[in-house]
Amino acid sequence: MHVLVTGGAGYIGSHTCLCLLEEGFSVTVIDNFCNSSPEALRRVQALAGRSLTLIKGDVRDAATLDAAFAGPRIDAVIHFAGLKAVGESVAEPMLYYDNNVAGTFNLLQAMQRAKVSTVVFSSSATVYGDPAPEDLPLEETSPTGITHSPYATSKWMVERCLADLHTAQPQWRIARLRYFNPVGAHPSGRIGENPSGTPNNLMPFISQVACGTRPMLSIFGGDYPTHDGTGVRDYIHVMDLAEGHVATLKYLANRPNGDLLTLNLGTGQGCSVLDVVKAFEAASGQTVPYQIVARRPGDVPAYYADSTQAQELLHWKAKRTLHDMCADTWRWQAANPKGYASE
Ligand code: NAD
Ligand code: UFG
Repeated sequence: MHVLVTGGAGYIGSHTCLCLLEEGFSVTVIDNFCNSSPEALRRVQALAGRSLTLIKGDVRDAATLDAAFAGPRIDAVIHFAGLKAVGESVAEPMLYYDNNVAGTFNLLQAMQRAKVSTVVFSSSATVYGDPAPEDLPLEETSPTGITHSPYATSKWMVERCLADLHTAQPQWRIARLRYFNPVGAHPSGRIGENPSGTPNNLMPFISQVACGTRPMLSIFGGDYPTHDGTGVRDYIHVMDLAEGHVATLKYLANRPNGDLLTLNLGTGQGCSVLDVVKAFEAASGQTVPYQIVARRPGDVPAYYADSTQAQELLHWKAKRTLHDMCADTWRWQAANPKGYASE
């Protein structure tokens, strides 16, 4: 099976490409490297002992996509390419609608021209908005669409578009995967998350504090209605997430009459910011100094997934622990203090 992976050089994409190569899939990546480095894919190929095809290009460019589909027959697309900084999306909404929504429409149109109708889309738990405590754990049928950022709205719009496409053309095989909070790195320490500038997300910030790049973690809010007052999330190891994509492709390959899957990919466990800090200190042997500051605007107190559907349909389950997530993050961070620019 030949898979086109858009955004394959990015954090989740690079780990997924490695799993795909290890499972025997042929892989072509399209990436414009706006938030990644080709070094990630060099390392993926070295780890896998196999090569992939790389096209430097933008999913908003129809000619690039048509050229990709004109090569060796592509059986399925995994669509990671997009922008993901929630705060930036508030400041630059058109950038997000252009990349995430127009980029996806362009991809789906190119797929139609090429008669490729299997697609796995990177959605996000953020489509659930600000869930009420009684809605936890979040099920796929929990309410969506009351979104709080253009980023979240862009994911929700694409989800709707994919559902409409499937209604009109039921032979399409579509998976809308709602990721919870991906963290961690490949256990080799060779590939991992490579944020540019100050990290927005918790785990890369903690690991940069632990290695001395930043002096202290600011914990956004200590007065949430959670077990220790700090925000609760469902952290999932990026390798579990990557394996979830392989399982999804295998599932879709056996749906000859088409399907529209909507699945939460999480662990089902809610961990607070302080839980993560403590686990990171234990896994790394480093101290992570922190201060509790005001809540970050737009943050919700708590959410975590019910991932039973993914377990039942895909025979997939997130199996790595919070300790694994922290230990693997630390191995990557310690060996690559400047990410892919370290070498
Ligand atoms: P990432 O930024 O590391 O990877 C995205 C990749 O897409 C990068 O390599 C980037 O260069 C590329 N890209 C962006 N716009 C492009 C375009 N127009 N054309 C071609 N390439 C383009 O992000 P990630 O964490 O790997 O996330 C992958 C996907 O998963 C994104 O769609 C993101 O919204 C979604 N997601 C991520 C998270 C998370 O916390 N990391 C959570 C939920 C959903
Ligand atoms: N946090 C801190 N300090 C920091 C960074 C984060 O205390 O420096 C806290 C946040 O307040 C939150 C928790 O750590 O309680 C997790 O925050 P992240 O920024 O790591 O993740 P979010 O849950 O805010 O959002 C992430 C992605 C979104 C995605 C969402 C759901 O950034 O793109 O998960 O998948 F939509």
